[in-house]
Amino acid sequence: MKITVIGTGYVGLVSGACFAEVGINVVCVDVDQKKIENLKNGIMPIYEPGLEEIVKRNYASGRLHFTTDLSEAINGSEVAFIAVGTPPGEDGSADLRYVLAVAHEIGTRMTDFIVVATKSTVPVTTGDKVRAIVKEALDKRGSELPFAVASNPEFLKEGAAVEDFMKPDRIVIGVDDERAKEFMKRLYKPFQLNSDRIIFMDIPSAEMTKYAANAILATKISFMNDIANLCELVGANANLVRKGIGSDHRIGTKFIYPGVGYGGSCFPKDVKAIIKTGKQYGYELNVLQAVEEVNDAQKHVLVKKVKQHFGDDLKGKTFAIWGLSFKPNTDDMREAPATIIIEELIAAGAKVKAYDPIAMKEAKYTYIGNKITYAKDAYDACVDVDALLLVTEWSEFRIPSWEALGKLLIKKIIFDGRNIYDKNYLEKLGFTHYGIGM
Ligand code: UDX
Repeated sequence: MKITVIGTGYVGLVSGACFAEVGINVVCVDVDQKKIENLKNGIMPIYEPGLEEIVKRNYASGRLHFTTDLSEAINGSEVAFIAVGTPPGEDGSADLRYVLAVAHEIGTRMTDFIVVATKSTVPVTTGDKVRAIVKEALDKRGSELPFAVASNPEFLKEGAAVEDFMKPDRIVIGVDDERAKEFMKRLYKPFQLNSDRIIFMDIPSAEMTKYAANAILATKISFMNDIANLCELVGANANLVRKGIGSDHRIGTKFIYPGVGYGGSCFPKDVKAIIKTGKQYGYELNVLQAVEEVNDAQKHVLVKKVKQHFGDDLKGKTFAIWGLSFKPNTDDMREAPATIIIEELIAAGAKVKAYDPIAMKEAKYTYIGNKITYAKDAYDACVDVDALLLVTEWSEFRIPSWEALGKLLIKKIIFDGRNIYDKNYLEKLGFTHYGIGM
């Protein structure tokens, strides 16, 4: 079986590599010549655990190909996945420019029946737009080649993308064509893992499922951040409340960790986009508007605590930041709370020394990139600083040597933005610990 994946970003590259891993002949296409050359040479555009190995292995074995030539790629392919970016436009709605341009290209270049499947997160009704554009391109050529459209949203998490793709909780496929349904069933057979994980549905429902999934996860986080803030005011401990509610299976233990707010490429963008879709149809998604507001405010909570301790004017103070990426195991800086935290510290006159195990290179490209200094390791960041701010919970920050830190820090103060440290234990060691919701 041969397929094409267009777009070698997070979703496209991981999907392409994982399909190749189970024996499918995959051609990955991108307009970025440099990116394609790099991939051929085993240089990954992103940091993602396990990705480099499977890309290199499958490229070497000839099952995974990289090209900028879409015609060559789709020739003989049964499915063409559109996995290009859908960045938020000025007004928060998803920008479909790249998705629709690819649909046009496919219509212009296809030579046989093909399933055009969107893997990018696209607003409801995009399937219809893709269909119309492919058809228009075919009409222009005077061609009546048959094709089908499908929606196959991807639920992988950054930092665990390969694992998530290889062992999915579910595979959602929106399709309205029997032949396309059979193709997709065959393609996903290796990922079924002894149980039927494919959920077939109509195309708009598949498109909506992706937004609804991200929206409910974002809601859980904002809900918990709200409760955590109230915990502080009433003298409750959010960590214990989290455990207390998480043990109810209907609520569950995941995505109820309070912190410095969610970031990344999906939650902020998709929550905005679905709110916008609602508005376009004259419907206000009130819960999600609140989810967004809580999250925006949450990104300021840690610095608020810093100011409560040190005063509003932070001139002459230096702070260590542990963790820059929006979450561990990725170098992704998109919507990372660290950028807002750092910006605020600097605006109040402070200096910042940061350390991240992987994301420092990416951080340098952001707007705070050249306003801070970068440490060579976690301890180096803490030399002669007034306090430590834990922003991203990388494993290597979990059990530091408190003895060493106590000597490096001017004052033994920790602002724990992810509640990873034991407050009582630290207080016994003479540290002041500020957590979220406790
Ligand atoms: C998310 C979805 O999980 C995935 O299914 C979808 O395909 C894309 O969006 P991702 O953005 O990679 O994946 O990261 P995720 O692990 O979901 O974390 C998102 C954000 O929520 C991070 O900033 C994380 O720190 C934050 N978070 C997560 C919390 O603040 N608390 C939690 O309990 C869980």
